[in-house]
Amino acid sequence: MNHQEATPKNIVLIGFMGCGKSTVGRELHQRLGYRLMDIDHIIEETIGKKITEIFREMGEQAFREFETIQLAEISKQTGVRHIISTGGGIVIRPENRTLLRKLGYVVWLRAPEDVIFERTSRNRDRPLLNSPDAREKISSLLAEREPWYRETAHLRVDTAGLESHEVATGILESARYFFAHPA
Ligand code: S3P
Repeated sequence: MNHQEATPKNIVLIGFMGCGKSTVGRELHQRLGYRLMDIDHIIEETIGKKITEIFREMGEQAFREFETIQLAEISKQTGVRHIISTGGGIVIRPENRTLLRKLGYVVWLRAPEDVIFERTSRNRDRPLLNSPDAREKISSLLAEREPWYRETAHLRVDTAGLESHEVATGILESARYFFAHPA
């Protein structure tokens, strides 16, 4: 198997809630024309419920199962070029981290804690943060997850002060290099 076959040319976006994965994913989709696969959206469509309903009615563990199943499904598709946008907690499971690395070029989007708090407090779509101590929850989840994002990503992008099109440009340039010289 040569390098081209060994490394699928997908771009995978990981990172905490509110770091711009969906926005940057759409931008990359428009610029590259690769199909956009948003795992949270796929789960909502497959199960026929919103993420908040899944958490409320079935619990977080059920959601984590759906997440792993969808990731495994996407991993079976070979020879394709996709932009894959993930939920912030996808890195919790070690098997997901392995699958993500195999999927292609993994980009970790980061934002300062203040920005995350400001963005995520604008709506109530995120069940893990629907509590009076959301700020504290962000801090503790970030501390827990940062090592997993670091371990999984090929590239880390600090998005502070950047527009989503600027973030996308940086990702495109480094992805081109990565696909030409896979690790
Ligand atoms: C989650 C992040 C959410 C969604 C779910 C759980 C998490 O996705 O998957 O609410 O555990 O961080 P976003 O990162 O797109 O908000």
